[in-house]
Amino acid sequence: MPRNEELIESIKRLKREKNAIILAHYYQVPEIQDLADFIGDSLALSQFATKVEQDIIVFCGVHFMAETAKILNPSKKVLLPDLLAGCSLADSAPEADFAEFKSQHPNHKIITYINSTAAVKALSDVICTSGNALQIVESFPKDQPLIFAPDKNLGGYINRVTERDMILWQGSCVVHDQLNTQLIIEQKQKHPDALVIAHPECNAPVLELADYIGSTNGMIAFAKKSPATRFIVASETGIVHQMQKDAPDKEFFVVPADESCSCNDCPFMKMNTLEKLYSTLLNETPEIVLEDELIQKAYQPIRRMLDISIEKGIIK
Ligand code: 13P
Ligand code: SF4
Repeated sequence: MPRNEELIESIKRLKREKNAIILAHYYQVPEIQDLADFIGDSLALSQFATKVEQDIIVFCGVHFMAETAKILNPSKKVLLPDLLAGCSLADSAPEADFAEFKSQHPNHKIITYINSTAAVKALSDVICTSGNALQIVESFPKDQPLIFAPDKNLGGYINRVTERDMILWQGSCVVHDQLNTQLIIEQKQKHPDALVIAHPECNAPVLELADYIGSTNGMIAFAKKSPATRFIVASETGIVHQMQKDAPDKEFFVVPADESCSCNDCPFMKMNTLEKLYSTLLNETPEIVLEDELIQKAYQPIRRMLDISIEKGIIK
């Protein structure tokens, strides 16, 4: 297997030869972020996937993201460097349990976070991401009973902001839910002038301490335009790469996952490596394969999300 620089050149060559495009999430390792043709949060990546014209999409993210790209642009070959790159939120909502839960609440509309399987999306009324959850929830009348799944933290946050009482599926993110207030307070003591920016997958006490709460795109944009120069980041480590590129003179301190470790890497996002990206492009596998019927069923609620997001001016 070639070394890093050779690998990067080989990936670029294969990409040209095979008319492929690389999409990446901000939690990927820096080398992959730098190689990507497009990088974004879940919402931007979904919107971008609808417009891809190349024959092959190599999705450097996790399974639900690649699956969403396939649903939105099914004629493309969608590859994921490691099919085991899952997500604890998607895992928390198996299809059969979700269908049973849905049948127990026939009058509720279901808003499902994009961090879910295609099968669960197909059982939902509309999808949302951390970048549009507020607007998607507010698109429903106040008296409409709602279920929010699978992230209890994002759902709880939106419940508090909108003063709603959505029923919450009890899923959580293994990376964000482990962060606690003590760890943030310790960072704040070390860097008293720093602003705290947090992803809404963090639990409520952590979000209480945040100066800004938003998606990965939102946090990056906030850090760039804020007059502050130091930030305590309650999210996954990969996000700092883009923050530092956008604002090289600013300082970012990632909230450590526990007292002994400063490496809150998402174990799923970090399954993708340059080596796997290279062999994925070379062999055109592993591929995301979905039944046509599932694609059609899951497409509707994702399209609804994109349409509401365009209408509200969140995306173009
Ligand atoms: P974003 O849509 O904010 O990038 O979040 C995706 C995710 O998986 C966060 O853990
Ligand atoms: Fe899923 Fe959390 Fe990883 Fe995001 S950071 S992909 S929510 S496990």
